[in-house]
Amino acid sequence: MSSITLKGIRKVYPIADDIKKKKKKLKKAAMPPVPADGFVPNLQITDEGVVAVQDFNLEIKDKEFVVLVGPSGCGKSTTLRMIAGLEEITDGELYIGDTLSNSIAPRDRNIAMVFQNYSLYPHMTVSENMDFSLRLAKVGKETILEKVQEAARTLEITQILDRLPKALSGGQRQRVAIGRAIVRNPQVILMDEPLSNLDAKLRGQMRSEIIRLRQKIDTTFVYVTHDQVEAMTLGDRIVVMKDGFIQQVGTPQEVFNHPVNTFVAGFIGTPQINFFHNVPLSVEGGEYYITIQGRKIRLDEKHQAPLKAKGQQTCDVTVGVRPVHISMADEGFSGKIEVSEMMGSEVHLHINLNGDDIVAVIPTADLDLNLVSIGKDLTFNFNPKLIHVFDQTTGENLI
Ligand SMILES: Nc1ncnc2c1ncn2[C@@H]1O[C@H](COP(=O)(O)OP(=O)(O)OP(=O)(O)O)[C@@H](O)[C@H]1O
Ligand SMILES: [Mg+2]
Repeated sequence: MSSITLKGIRKVYPIADDIKKKKKKLKKAAMPPVPADGFVPNLQITDEGVVAVQDFNLEIKDKEFVVLVGPSGCGKSTTLRMIAGLEEITDGELYIGDTLSNSIAPRDRNIAMVFQNYSLYPHMTVSENMDFSLRLAKVGKETILEKVQEAARTLEITQILDRLPKALSGGQRQRVAIGRAIVRNPQVILMDEPLSNLDAKLRGQMRSEIIRLRQKIDTTFVYVTHDQVEAMTLGDRIVVMKDGFIQQVGTPQEVFNHPVNTFVAGFIGTPQINFFHNVPLSVEGGEYYITIQGRKIRLDEKHQAPLKAKGQQTCDVTVGVRPVHISMADEGFSGKIEVSEMMGSEVHLHINLNGDDIVAVIPTADLDLNLVSIGKDLTFNFNPKLIHVFDQTTGENLI
């Protein structure tokens, strides 16, 4: 149990000579335009090295469960490894509790880490794997037995304590790895994509077990994943990262309901949010309107006030509408259904709206399924209260 404070943390990995040469060559050539698929060269590679994490400021409260989430390469593992002491901190301060911990050795941090690949000792049984750190710390035999039994009960692995890791399933190995972390009663548990090697069903099951475990052992967790569903379901707070920078910190609800920019809006929520680009934002009689594909919509009061307060001028915006906020209507936008995916309690529709692919999630209770079959025309609408309005250039949420 401990708080963790990261102040102005930055991590630069020294760059290998061959990459430096390549980069020089690239610099000499004229910068190519951004290709149509949107791929942009890695912005994190600088002359100094690979800037994996920068300007990282976060206070993790005692017993909080914080999830770092973001696409591959955004600096999640690097941040976690700096907290564990496995990676040197280039700049900034790391406090564990009140102690400045930048140069405290990993073994003296009282932190346990669970890795994606489990990292179990293959020649040791499950119980030997679990009590290894306690034996190293010269804890008494009886205490060791007690702690291993207790962790095994919590994780329901009592039956397999005498087996070797090679005789275990992926889910069982992951439980042992977690067991090894919790026997030490660490003040912080760090987990780096612990479920990503498991199949979808087991992943769901282990996710709920981690929620239960968290209630039982009541310690501080920092959990890394690139899976936004894991982030939403596990985190008290989520830290969304991109290119080494924090984009947003908030509760799952805050991040979902009020994404600070188009990146967060697109990353959190499944199916992905729909974006309408080049939408004119106009002001008439002191009121704000948007016009999507010829339909003029008066913005909700919730949007009016902040736009008025900052004296927002007429401009083009990007509008985000979540698939779950789209509903069938008598009046509204009309398009052809191109894909209809039946999920059971809901159906996911891809609607071609004059070339834009719009995804809608429609509940199936009381729904005539004939209306949502492929090739049918569908009229739909959304509640203006639930839309998001972003600056077209910066991508920032205007509200
Ligand atoms: N040892 C290293 N040397 C040089 N660059 C590194 C090293 N480790 C990571 N990087 C770079 O630092 C950046 C952040 O890497 P990191 O492993 O923290 O990302 P991540 O968010 O955990 O990604 P993933 O989801 O793929 O695990 C990447 O650009 C990566 O290439
Ligand atoms: Mg990683």
